[in-house]
Parts: sequence; C-alpha cells; structure tokens
Amino acid sequence: MAAAKRGLSPRPGVLDIAPYVPGTSALPGAHPVIKLSSNETPFGPSPRAIEAFLASATSLSRYPDGSARPLREAIAKLYGLDPARIVCGAGSDELLNLIAGAYLGSGDEAIYSRHGFLVYKIVILGRGATPVVAPETDLTANVDAILACVSDRTRVVFIANPNNPTGTYLAFDEVKRLHAGLPDNVLLVLDAAYAEYVRKNDYEAGIELVATTHNTVMTRTFSKIYGLAFLRLGWAYCPTEVADALNRIRGPFNVSGPSIAAGIAALADQAWVQHAVEHNETWCARMTEALSAIGIGVTPSAANFLLLHFPKRNGKSAQAADTFLHQRRIILRRVEEYGLPDALRMTIGSEEENRAVLEALTAFMGANGTPS
Ligand SMILES: Cc1ncc(COP(=O)(O)O)c(C=O)c1O
Repeated sequence: MAAAKRGLSPRPGVLDIAPYVPGTSALPGAHPVIKLSSNETPFGPSPRAIEAFLASATSLSRYPDGSARPLREAIAKLYGLDPARIVCGAGSDELLNLIAGAYLGSGDEAIYSRHGFLVYKIVILGRGATPVVAPETDLTANVDAILACVSDRTRVVFIANPNNPTGTYLAFDEVKRLHAGLPDNVLLVLDAAYAEYVRKNDYEAGIELVATTHNTVMTRTFSKIYGLAFLRLGWAYCPTEVADALNRIRGPFNVSGPSIAAGIAALADQAWVQHAVEHNETWCARMTEALSAIGIGVTPSAANFLLLHFPKRNGKSAQAADTFLHQRRIILRRVEEYGLPDALRMTIGSEEENRAVLEALTAFMGANGTPS
C-alpha cells in the first residue's frame, strides 16, 4: 500500500520538489571522458590537502570537533573574520538548507532570480515555504525586479554571486542597493561559491555586508577552487544571531574530521589557489573569444564556467551539440531545468580539455578557429 494511503505523507511542498539532477559524470564505455559539467577545478586539491586527508585516516574512530573549530579558526585567520560567526557545513548546500530550516516555514516566501541556482527552490519548498522568482535582465539578477517581489511574507532572498549557471555577477554597489531596499526582517543570502575566481574591481563577495548588517549571510565552498567537492565542505559567515540559529539546528558533527583536516591544509596553500585563478582568467577569455568566433554566443562570465548559447538554426541546437560532444567523450552541462534549453554550460578545464572542446565544437559548427 502506498505510504500516503496509510496516512503517511510528507509536508506540503515536499512532493512538488523536482530532485536536483547533478551534471552528467560518466558515459557508456570504458574510455576516459573529459568532464566539464560540474564546475570542478581541473587541478584537483592542493597536495597538502591530500596529505592532510590521508593523515586523518589514523583517527577515524574519533568524533571530530563538533563545531569544526580548527577549520573556522583557519578561515577566520585567512580572511580576518570572527571565528564565532563562521558556521561550517557538508558543502554550502547544507548551509543553504540550514538557513531555510532556520528562517522559512509554511506561509513564508523566499525570492531568487529567474536563472538562480536550483538548490534555492529545493530548500524553500522543502520547508513548506513559497518560492518567488524575480525576472532578470540579460541573464543577470535585477535588483529592482527582486525588490518588486518583496511582500509582507518575504523572509529570505537568495542570490548566487556570481550566479550558476549564467556566470553573471552583481557589482557591490548593486548588492548594497538590494540590501538597503529589503525590510529589516528579511535575510539576504549571498552565495559566493565562485568568489575566489572573480577578478572584478567592483565585486565584493559579502564579507563587508555581513560585517556591517544584521541580516546578511555569505556562503562559501571548498568544492570549486579548492578542489574538495568529493569531501563536501562549505562555510557561512553570519551575524552572531544567525550563526546561533544555524548552530542550534545543524547536526552536532556535521563536518567530518578528514574534511576539517583537508580544508585547513587547502587554505594554507594560497599559491595553489592563485595558479588556478590565473589559469581560469586566461582560459575564460580565450574560450569566450574562440567560441564567439565560431558562432556560439557566450555570456560574459566572472566564474570558472561559460554559458554557451547555440544558434538552433541548421541543426545547431544545444541538444545536438551535447550528443556530438558525447561522441567525442566530452561532457558539458545541459541547463534545460534552468529554463535555458538552447544553452550548455562548460566548466573551464585544463588547457588540453579546453582545446578538445574547442576542436569538437568547431567541427560541430562547421567553422574554423583555434585559440592562440
Ligand atoms: C552557486 C552555487 N552555490 C552552491 C553550490 C553548492 O556547492 P557545495 O554544496 O558543493 O559547497 C554550487 C555548486 O555547484 C553552486 O554553483
């Protein structure tokens, strides 16, 4: 008998959730693939992080520090923050979920923008609250449109900055204007998963607003530039009251010991991070130029991925490109569920991977062009 018939059913909203579908990670057959579907770094983690992770294998029978204190202290030292206001989680996904758990319930509304990160909708519905979607301008969050969505029931606004899957970002002045326009009782969540990659003078990840307001939280991850996606590790910088709320509802040992150890070691290797940033800057620009030259539209990106827009004409659709790339063992990210059926998202890979994508897409588009 179905569970619902026996009187057991999840809270309203839960069954409205379309489960998150991660980027494809494998193709049939034994040959290796080029996987550029999940915005992971081509360089992997710092060797120091791997060493720390391996060393932690000798203590697997012990519980870790329940508040990930050594990691919070390492983050605080690197960024000049108060460790008491940092909360760590099993990926920033867990922190987004905890924020929803602490601030959203039935009857509440939470806002995100049209092509915002899909997890927001999931965590909002998961708490029985109502998602409100603000229109964007040129695939970029529009502060006025977000503010126009605010109602008496609004409790949280989620902004990915830069945003996944578009790669677009909001300048700090715009983020400040957004915050200034929000009522006092609305929490602004700045999801800065790609902050380390951004090289824009007018960008600020969120530390300043968290430091100076009572209702802004910034979330960060070790999954992207730090290369630790497999471990699941993220952190949030919060006003004291928000950190207190999240700490009350999180699992008592929500971050594992090996993650804490690897995270601390990864932070200590900023030369590794710098190298990844420089590589990304170079290849983001080269790929944008080279792909544009073969007739693929590229949204200017501040992150480590590009949104590629296919012309649709003459069979040059995103779906056909995806199939063509799979035949060459290359996996990019389909983004239909973001409302972008004519686009694919490509993570910036190693030089070799990027060149392979360009060669394949050049063949697909029937044009010439190679990056210098
Ligand atoms: C904007 C954004 N936020 C959060 C996450 C979640 O990252 P994690 O849970 O691995 O820390 C991602 C991952 O793709 C992302 O793109």
